[in-house]
Amino acid sequence: MKRQWGWGVLGALGLGFVAVRVNGKLRPKPMPVQIEQFFLTNPLRVSYFGYRDALRLAGDLKGLRVLEVGVGVGVILEEIAKRVGEGGQAFGVDVQSDAVAKAEQRLSQGGLMSRTGLATANALDMPWTDGSMDRVITVAMLGEIPASHRVDALKEARRVLNDEGKLVVTEFWPDPHFIPLSRMVKLLRQAGFGIVDIHQKPFLYSISAKKEG
Ligand SMILES: C[S@@+](CC[C@H](N)C(=O)[O-])C[C@H]1O[C@@H](n2cnc3c(N)ncnc32)[C@H](O)[C@@H]1O
Repeated sequence: MKRQWGWGVLGALGLGFVAVRVNGKLRPKPMPVQIEQFFLTNPLRVSYFGYRDALRLAGDLKGLRVLEVGVGVGVILEEIAKRVGEGGQAFGVDVQSDAVAKAEQRLSQGGLMSRTGLATANALDMPWTDGSMDRVITVAMLGEIPASHRVDALKEARRVLNDEGKLVVTEFWPDPHFIPLSRMVKLLRQAGFGIVDIHQKPFLYSISAKKEG
């Protein structure tokens, strides 16, 4: 009897996972901030699915202007703001105003707001001028944008990057909006990027790319 219960619970969890994943694929939309708060700030996420891989590919950020697209509650932006130092600037954008508010709270508590600029805006239309960023970083964001707009979002990242700038994209599984590596490479090329480097580990990849042409 106990064994049957065990299989029942496992089956329900499995079905729940499949349902969330299918829904995420069919109807991509921003993750609610309360869920982000739990999933993106817990120690497992921060240590394994965090920002280290993305920031390693982004290189030394000291003194640079670095934008994170889809900041969520600001876990990665906080680290970016630390790494750019006093001579640099960290920028963050999110389509959800309550995510931006949480990110602002986090950076204020860390005393980092003086070198940070935050905006509530869509990744498809960002409030920064052409070529104004040295780095653009986006983690677990692109899959939340409807498939037909993903290349446009990458083109918008390309617009704000300067010619020597670098874009870093990270995706991890089992994010319900996970985009497989081969598809991401295709999207980046369609948006006018050339691939510089790919870092992969179980359940996660990061790609760095530069403007081409
Ligand atoms: C899964 S969270 C990741 C947050 C952060 N990058 C991290 O890894 O800690 C994705 C974020 O992207 C934001 N997002 C989704 N679609 C967006 C869009 N079109 N423009 C800007 N932000 C968007 C969501 O609101 C959400 O806060």
